[in-house]
Amino acid sequence: MGLLEELKKRRTFGIVSHPDAGKTTLTEKLLLFGGAIQEAGAVKSNKIKKTATSDFMEIEKQRGISVATSVMGFEYRGKQINILDTPGHKDFAEDTYRTLTAVDSVIVVVDVAKGVETQTEKLVEVCRMRATPIMVFINKLDREGRDAFDLLDEVEKKLGLRLCPLSWPIGMGKEFQGVYNLWENNVQLFLGNNKQKMSETIAFTDVNDPALDGRIGSKAADLLREELELLQGVYPSFQKEEYLKGDLCPVFFGSALNNFGVQELLNCFVEIAPEPQSKAAEERLVLPEESKFSGFVFKIHANIDPNHRSRIAFVKIVSGVFERNTPYFHVREGKTLKFSSPTTFLASKRSVVDCAYPGDIVGLPDTGLFRIGDTLTEGENLHYTGIPSFSPEHFRFVNNADPLKSKQLAKGIDQLMDEGVAQLFTLMVNGRKIIGTVGALQYEVIQYRLEHEYGAKCSYEPFSAFKACWVESFDNAQLEEFKKLKQRYLAEDKYGKMVFLADSLFSLQMTQEKFDKLVFHMKSEF
Ligand code: G4P
Repeated sequence: MGLLEELKKRRTFGIVSHPDAGKTTLTEKLLLFGGAIQEAGAVKSNKIKKTATSDFMEIEKQRGISVATSVMGFEYRGKQINILDTPGHKDFAEDTYRTLTAVDSVIVVVDVAKGVETQTEKLVEVCRMRATPIMVFINKLDREGRDAFDLLDEVEKKLGLRLCPLSWPIGMGKEFQGVYNLWENNVQLFLGNNKQKMSETIAFTDVNDPALDGRIGSKAADLLREELELLQGVYPSFQKEEYLKGDLCPVFFGSALNNFGVQELLNCFVEIAPEPQSKAAEERLVLPEESKFSGFVFKIHANIDPNHRSRIAFVKIVSGVFERNTPYFHVREGKTLKFSSPTTFLASKRSVVDCAYPGDIVGLPDTGLFRIGDTLTEGENLHYTGIPSFSPEHFRFVNNADPLKSKQLAKGIDQLMDEGVAQLFTLMVNGRKIIGTVGALQYEVIQYRLEHEYGAKCSYEPFSAFKACWVESFDNAQLEEFKKLKQRYLAEDKYGKMVFLADSLFSLQMTQEKFDKLVFHMKSEF
């Protein structure tokens, strides 16, 4: 098969949700349908157990498990599907944001009882920024939940999405009977308590067919007819082009745990989800069908178990064919590298690959050469964009606690930042270093890893900041005035870009008002 056929087969996506909405369960059911696993329970949840939040070693152990499930590939209806795993724990949100730079579409899982939760809001915002096509799966219909119309209303308002239901629930909780599938025009009936058996699917081309009353009862059938009519009036009809532009999101209802509504979602997904997309580099737009290989690093996973210390750089292939033992150009380093054991991932198995295509993810053993965002090519000077850093939520000064080990500390911090564990800012006034993280947990991880991997010791001191804002200027005079006035709050990020460490939302708003020719961005690319 040639490059074009291979890439047209690929569907690379991520599932995002607030923890506990059912991401792991849904992933597992998709793998079951794809034949990638034979039984439920085969996919280890990379969910970090609530009891373990103070024990980061335990978390790291669980994160270790998640390397195996970082990418899960399977074939379904002639398509090669790659699911990219996204950590649910909020302290690892930055990992998830970056993984979203490597997907071509996403499925958002929403708990029917809990509705839209905070983590989902943040993740969808990142997808919207990139106009990623989104499908929504409303999960746990076997439980008492919210009214479907109210819930969709909330999803539209809180997530800022335009929805288009392609299935509709018949009852809910105890009354839940099944879903009407508007995409395939049939009714799938739920077989109550029998969780092992697949439910029954009956084709109905017309919802007014009296046979429907016979199956679900007249009351439920009438209500369904009424709701479907309302639906047509309220929601736009499905247009694939709008979905592909990220402007319209199909919605499916079901219960992942009970294997219900999942296959409908998957059947629709393989028909509508986008194949690998072109990607912007600073120099030009790169098309997946170009014959020359290029790709970028979106994630680096380090194993902190001292017996198996290793790093894997995850590369998303953007164009051409990646081949084993072939020299590729590491653009930032200006070096040519060969990889003798690149791995791909099939469910929980890892294996060495000879070649991989756009949309695929390969894992490259890394000895510290890679940094998030690095580009590999066949020689062209390309720098992929759209892999930004986001403003951290926590900030602390980092001090050297062992003066004899300052070199080790600098190296350790440098490498951990390359991995994307946290972000380093250097205050412009005095050169003091500040580490910014998404979750407080990262500080413990950094301290531990510096000591065990680099033999360095650090201590922290509080630094009060609300957000890190990357500054864009449209007026030099104003920029100079801003720099003078806010000197104490200015820092450089790892790449030398100027960052304003605003100490409160209020001060940020006041600053923005005063300096109206400057723009303060919460992410490093704008
Ligand atoms: P996450 O990855 O999004 O964090 O969620 P996960 O799939 O781990 O699911 C969270 C909990 O919700 C699990 O229960 C899971 O069994 C349950 N769940 C998932 N889908 C459904 C559904 O359709 N209906 C119902 N009723 N429950 C569902 P748990 O008790 O936390 O874990 P476990 O002991 O079952 O593994």
